[in-house]
Amino acid sequence: MDDLVRRPRRLRRTPAIRRLVSETRLSTADVVAPLFVAEAATSPQAITSLPGHFQHTLDSLTEEVARLLRHGVSSVMLFGVPSEKDSQGTGASDPQGIVQVALERLNREFHDDVVIFADLCLDEYTDHGHCGVLDSEGKVDNDATLLRYQAAAIAQADAGVDFVAPSGMMDGQVGAIRSALDTHGRHDVGILAYSAKYVSGLYGPFREAVSVEIADGGDRRGYQQDFSNRREALLEVQLDIEQGADIVMVKPAVTYLDVIADVAGSVDVPVAAYHVSGEYSMIKAAGEKGWIDADAVALEQLTAVKRAGADIIVTYFAGELDQVLDG
Ligand code: PBG
Repeated sequence: MDDLVRRPRRLRRTPAIRRLVSETRLSTADVVAPLFVAEAATSPQAITSLPGHFQHTLDSLTEEVARLLRHGVSSVMLFGVPSEKDSQGTGASDPQGIVQVALERLNREFHDDVVIFADLCLDEYTDHGHCGVLDSEGKVDNDATLLRYQAAAIAQADAGVDFVAPSGMMDGQVGAIRSALDTHGRHDVGILAYSAKYVSGLYGPFREAVSVEIADGGDRRGYQQDFSNRREALLEVQLDIEQGADIVMVKPAVTYLDVIADVAGSVDVPVAAYHVSGEYSMIKAAGEKGWIDADAVALEQLTAVKRAGADIIVTYFAGELDQVLDG
């Protein structure tokens, strides 16, 4: 055999060589931990379909953030589970709403040591489960929803959020939120835009986590992207950047690596990907059955998401990533 033909395996000979030539490095600095906080909880409630995750009380949320910091993770994304829901999703913008109260608490405890993102949407807060408010025909009213998002952004900003994360896929949401924040004098609060968010069967466990059911067997096809479309994601991302997005996100992750790669190749802002609830649960469930090695698959998937071009990964594995990386 020609000597040159042996080059690939020379670079794989020892762990130290493999480490040296590794093209993609995943670390606890890259990840954001999604966390749920429930208004009614008096003790942390386990979320069956997301093993290791809880609907937190304010106290257990604070303990969890402290634990994450000990494990090297200093970014979190908050989701609220309100006690009361209504047609307007009032809890999303109420200064006493659960996420606003949680933001104040985390700020008091951790100051600038933690980067706090808050999901900005209405679905957790509406009694019909849609991401916006409805018109007289029961359809999601884009522009009326933008007014609600502006109010929620200001409430989150006043409570101390670092980045609001609009996830409702309404047209013009980033521009509307940016102008509301700026008018309110909050140029310092950033926007992580869920820019290319697809209709997905992989959000199932999340909906259990936040107790959301869409009324009348409805779905989100009128606002989230069709998973057969690739180019369209670039338009969504471009519009969000023009409107002031600081970070753009693709969601879910592993089934959209092509989209992540396209986006990473076309923008100059940080690119995030959301490894969603179903992606986590599938790995955990198969791991529990002993059918796959869960840590190995988690490492493979999260590395693939970075390799595709994501700078930041929102993942339910955040709190165990140090262990996964050691594995
Ligand atoms: C909407 C929102 C959803 C998720 C994050 N933000 C649910 C949806 O669009 O139906 C899903 C996250 C996951 O599955 O992990 N507020």
